[in-house]
Amino acid sequence: MKEKFYISTAIAYTSGKPHIGNTYEIVLADAIARYKRLQGYDVYFQTGTDEHGEKIQLKAMEKSVTPQQYVDEVAAEIKLIWDTMNTSYDRFVRTTDPLHVEKVQHIFRKLYEQGDIYLGTYEGLYCTPCESFFTESQLVDGKCPDCGREVHYKKEEAYFFCLSKYQDRLRQYIDEHPEFIQPESRKNEMIHNFLDPGLQDLCVSRTSFDWGVPVDFDPKHVVYVWLDALTNYITNIGYDTDRSTEEFYHWWPADLHLVGKDIIRFHTIYWPIFLMALDLPLPKQVFGHPWLLMNNDKMSKSKGNVIYADDLVQFFGVDAVRYYVLHDIPFANDGNITYELLIDRINSDLANVLGNLVNRTISMGHKYFNGSIQNAHAKDIMDDGFIEMIQDLPRKVEEKMNGLEVGDALDEIMLLLRRSNKYIDETMPWTLAKEDEKKDRLMTVLYHLLESIRVSAVLLQAFLPDTAASILHQLGTSCQLLTYQNDGNYQLQEAEILFMRIDKDKKLVEIAQTLARSIV
Ligand code: MSP
Repeated sequence: MKEKFYISTAIAYTSGKPHIGNTYEIVLADAIARYKRLQGYDVYFQTGTDEHGEKIQLKAMEKSVTPQQYVDEVAAEIKLIWDTMNTSYDRFVRTTDPLHVEKVQHIFRKLYEQGDIYLGTYEGLYCTPCESFFTESQLVDGKCPDCGREVHYKKEEAYFFCLSKYQDRLRQYIDEHPEFIQPESRKNEMIHNFLDPGLQDLCVSRTSFDWGVPVDFDPKHVVYVWLDALTNYITNIGYDTDRSTEEFYHWWPADLHLVGKDIIRFHTIYWPIFLMALDLPLPKQVFGHPWLLMNNDKMSKSKGNVIYADDLVQFFGVDAVRYYVLHDIPFANDGNITYELLIDRINSDLANVLGNLVNRTISMGHKYFNGSIQNAHAKDIMDDGFIEMIQDLPRKVEEKMNGLEVGDALDEIMLLLRRSNKYIDETMPWTLAKEDEKKDRLMTVLYHLLESIRVSAVLLQAFLPDTAASILHQLGTSCQLLTYQNDGNYQLQEAEILFMRIDKDKKLVEIAQTLARSIV
């Protein structure tokens, strides 16, 4: 029996087209999901869209369409971007799905009937985009502490969830499960900013708009969008309050919720408490990844500094974009993107190191041996360190991936590829080719290079699936083994350029012209 691994992303708001920052998350999740599959896990990878709430209702009104029409259009656009990025999710869920809606109603009713939710009134300062109430002292410079926008006074009858009832249990759980909130710094933030001061009851219904899941026993209320959204992780795998499916028991608890650092509070405080109230186990880990900034600034439409994944793919190709976001966003600190940085990274890592190595090696294989290469066992002592590095790579990548340090895992692969290029410079195959008695040595050198490329490509399937497939095709091998093979056999195929070196100045002009045309 394969061990299961359930990974999810946050579900994206259908308030507009997602930028490369939101897209980063699905690519990151995809790399982890593909890697786990490679390791033999039975993986379930869920993503989707968060489609209710006042903000979305207002957007639909602006466009003179119904909210359902609006979310249908945006959800399709989001799914298309996820597909463009070649992400291998198993299910794309939507909070407007009638089955989900019905289960949210059941959950709300159960929590009400068992006394966790009660009816009260709310008076306070309200932020419409965040759909949250705040007290005066929570505001920052008189504005919303989450998004920095204006808040306004609002009073309404509302249902509340009694969070304080569960706070000691949650605190104990966090203390006993140090791996639950990652990175560690986020855990400390949650404890000091929220648990230590004590949790206020949470307002879990709204009456001022109706684009949401109606509370079935009091339909002038709709369910708070976060209670609706968070439950997506269980409703879509078969949870229901009185008759969950086998599928649910197979997958739950999730192994990893991948979310951005801004919504870690919802996933490590509210969500675990809702689960405790439902008497369900908690997810094993919540990873609050850092953000991707544009030129060290938050991306926003009003600043005009938003970069979209589909534009990047048009300019650079899918795997170059995947490589950049996976490699250049650190584990705990925000990452940065500009067109210049992206071009530099493609040239330095993908064209010069990876592309060049594969191209040189395959070309030499054709030139010297008509593409047919086996181990000729003419090993030199200088090969030992290189072969050891090939042998060690899978373990090093695994270590980094287990710690969710995806950029560092890619760096380990790049290290071997760089070492392989150096091995070519050291062994100088073109010199060996000049002497007939060095034929075996030459074939052995090429064989070692091919093994290094093969093992790297097998691992790269998790990160750059198309590139890895192309490399394995060019090598003419289907061997997926992650160890150096002593007796492999290569029938090389035609060499294909993987990544062209980009002329930076020319490309920047092309990008500027294309983007200017699309604005006009
Ligand atoms: N709908 C909520 C999530 C509900 S999950 C039950 C939401 N949606 S979102 O569309 O605003 O964000 C989706 C994800 O993208 C979140 O995890 C968010 O943190 C992440 N990011 C938003 N901007 C980002 C960057 N600039 N960089 C990296 N991730 C970013 O929040």
